[in-house]
Amino acid sequence: MTILAIDQGTTSSRAILFDDQLNARASAQQEFAQHFPQSGWVEHDAHDLWTSTAAVARAAIEKGRSSGAAIAAIGITNQRETTVIWDRRSGEPIHRAIVWQDRRTAALCQRLKDEGNEAAVTEATGLLLDPYFSATKIAWLLDNVEGARAAAERGELAFGTVDSWLIWNLTGGRVHATDATNAARTMLYDIRRGEWSQPMCALFGVPAAILPEVRDSAGDFGLTRPDLFGKELPILGVAGDQQAATVGQACFQPGMMKSTYGTGCFALLNTGDRAVTSQNRLLTTIAYQLDGKPTYALEGSIFIAGAVVQWLRDGLGLIRQAADTQKLAQKADPAQDVIMVPAFTGLGAPWWQPDARGAIYGLTRNTGPAELALAALESVGFQTRDLWQAMHADWPGGGDAVLRVDGGMSASDPTMQFLADILGAPVDRPKAVETTAKGAAWLAGMRAGICPGAEEYAASWALDRRFEPKLPEAEREARYARWTKAVQATMSL
Ligand code: G3P
Repeated sequence: MTILAIDQGTTSSRAILFDDQLNARASAQQEFAQHFPQSGWVEHDAHDLWTSTAAVARAAIEKGRSSGAAIAAIGITNQRETTVIWDRRSGEPIHRAIVWQDRRTAALCQRLKDEGNEAAVTEATGLLLDPYFSATKIAWLLDNVEGARAAAERGELAFGTVDSWLIWNLTGGRVHATDATNAARTMLYDIRRGEWSQPMCALFGVPAAILPEVRDSAGDFGLTRPDLFGKELPILGVAGDQQAATVGQACFQPGMMKSTYGTGCFALLNTGDRAVTSQNRLLTTIAYQLDGKPTYALEGSIFIAGAVVQWLRDGLGLIRQAADTQKLAQKADPAQDVIMVPAFTGLGAPWWQPDARGAIYGLTRNTGPAELALAALESVGFQTRDLWQAMHADWPGGGDAVLRVDGGMSASDPTMQFLADILGAPVDRPKAVETTAKGAAWLAGMRAGICPGAEEYAASWALDRRFEPKLPEAEREARYARWTKAVQATMSL
């Protein structure tokens, strides 16, 4: 038997077919258009999200057909927070999806903060008042698309994060549901009570009638339309991509921590059955929910990681492909200390400055592409150190002394070595770096009864390489202090 994992990400949709031992057997990937209608605005065409997903799912199934193994279940993982609203009758989106990176509601968030609402938001949802999350994006759509608010109140519209939108389309409009990890990113879900929060819906002006039903991460999300894949397939696993990666990395024990390097970088620390409130501007979120029981996590969210490499390629034209960054960075003059603060869409954790914009420090007449490439890669390590430090301060006993990494950039040995050096802690890269899709596949496969339970799955986690810190402590702290100064300067601009 096999499991089809769908990973609908920020820049591409992917589908991977896993066998019951969770080895990837076939995959397909498709990029789609990014829309930037104004500075700080980021949109996706919801049709693109669905059609690219359907296309890659079919392609992966086709490639895996030679094995003859039947598909037991589908698992879905997705870019989180991105907001879609559609008409329940026609299935048509009322507007393009507003992407998690979009900052258009920064002024609304600031006003709600000035009015003293942030403590109540954090208490209920574990989040901070930032445009990153879905609630203010929903409010913007209801207030800016003609007739939307009245239609929402009449129950004619449906809201969903991308998982819900895909489930709706996969099931032919029969299921309007999400899982607890995605619900936890909307700023409308009470993570301790495990239900939509009426006070939050009232604060953001979101009618309860548009919200999906919230289910377990390994749960029943309905059957796919028979015409899509030749037969009806059960959707049995759903989790936001960072939570799926936490599961994929087998971070099942409190204190275990992973960091995923995709478009952004997201570190999650498992805190077990305790929803820990951060004293250091981290988020409290749900890592996964099984049998009605949530497991919580502290999360640090950095908006720009892999995206900085994209900028080197598409914005500056310094490289032809992402993989060239490392080669270029290796030519950098070691005497220069260039620091890049990639606050292209504001700063996330632990700073939360939606209005900050990027900056580069330490430029000389000798600074060239190589130094910029190195500074870009190092910015990812420095930002992770910010999160690592905040997490250790928030979690009694400090959490694990090891960081598990995955995602595209984790393939770069020098970048991971720098990360270990600047953290002053070992960094573990697993053999299977497709952890996001693997986590979704495990959730669905476990629910279908064909994959091992958590313990056995955790035992199968295999190390590819451990990066030990090599930089002397004094040098590490001096470099980190310079980074901290650069971030402070950027924020005060
Ligand atoms: O919260 C946003 C996150 O889910 C996006 O992940 O992998 O597309 O950078 P990614």
